[in-house]
Amino acid sequence: MIWSLQAVPPISDQQFVLWSKLLEERAGIYLSAQQRTFLQTQVAMRMRELGLTDYGHYYAMIMDGVPGLIEWSQLIDRLVVKETSFYRHQPSFDFVAEHLAQRLSVAADQPHYDVWSVGCSSGEEPYSLAMVLSDGCRSAHREPLFSITASDISRAALSVAKAGVYGARRIEPVDLQQRQRYFAPVDDDRFRVVASLRDRICFNQANMLDINEMPAVRVDLIFCQNLLVYFRRWLREKIMNAFVQRLKPGGALVIGLGEVLDWSHPEMQRASNDGVQAYLHK
Ligand SMILES: C[S@@+](CC[C@H](N)C(=O)[O-])C[C@H]1O[C@@H](n2cnc3c(N)ncnc32)[C@H](O)[C@@H]1O
Repeated sequence: MIWSLQAVPPISDQQFVLWSKLLEERAGIYLSAQQRTFLQTQVAMRMRELGLTDYGHYYAMIMDGVPGLIEWSQLIDRLVVKETSFYRHQPSFDFVAEHLAQRLSVAADQPHYDVWSVGCSSGEEPYSLAMVLSDGCRSAHREPLFSITASDISRAALSVAKAGVYGARRIEPVDLQQRQRYFAPVDDDRFRVVASLRDRICFNQANMLDINEMPAVRVDLIFCQNLLVYFRRWLREKIMNAFVQRLKPGGALVIGLGEVLDWSHPEMQRASNDGVQAYLHK
């Protein structure tokens, strides 16, 4: 890595338009004028690493064939907000526990419960789901027959997720019993999710802009929180409609509260739980 001590100048209006358009075209992420400093800081940081001081020059580099795409995959890791935590929105996880219990109670033969965690970041969300499902199967005296596909655009986030190693502070939202059951100490301050849980999750890189090109595998639960909020309304709706085609009858779609307003679909009905934005496939 080349570090340059040269300062990168502030981004011009014209360059801000070019870079924010590129981010929206390639990842769906819409930046308002207020987020100009964020974009500038992230792009400039990468430019300093590469010894560049001209935004136009760096833009041309990004647009240049396969090497440009490789560089883009480095940059996108810095342009996405990866903030997450275990059990980030507890009522949504309580809803998942109820949905699983309901699915198990009506089936004579135990069904396989399949989940898609969309925009999974560094893994806290799919591991929280895995703990909920594992405990849910356990209390219903059933086998832990579930699997989770967890996807994100950021390779850096996915590599943290796959390792499944977290500091003591990060796992604080997990209750003591689950910590004892599902984490093993790595050293004084770090804990690793146990293999029996990690093995149930398949992490993969996917860009939600391409959802209509992805195989339409039907699952029991789609959990997508704090991702749609970065997209424009038309894109949120396009993705919500594509989710419907990927749910089994009776399957649930759980999104972040208020992330999509005024959306409805003839095959879906809003679940009545307070404090949760969830829909059930009819
Ligand atoms: C704020 S995090 C949310 C993480 C987690 N779902 C939660 O609620 O805690 C948003 C995640 O969405 C991912 N993301 C952003 N744009 C994406 C896209 N176009 N396709 C797939 N993932 C994307 C980011 O990389 C980031 O990890």
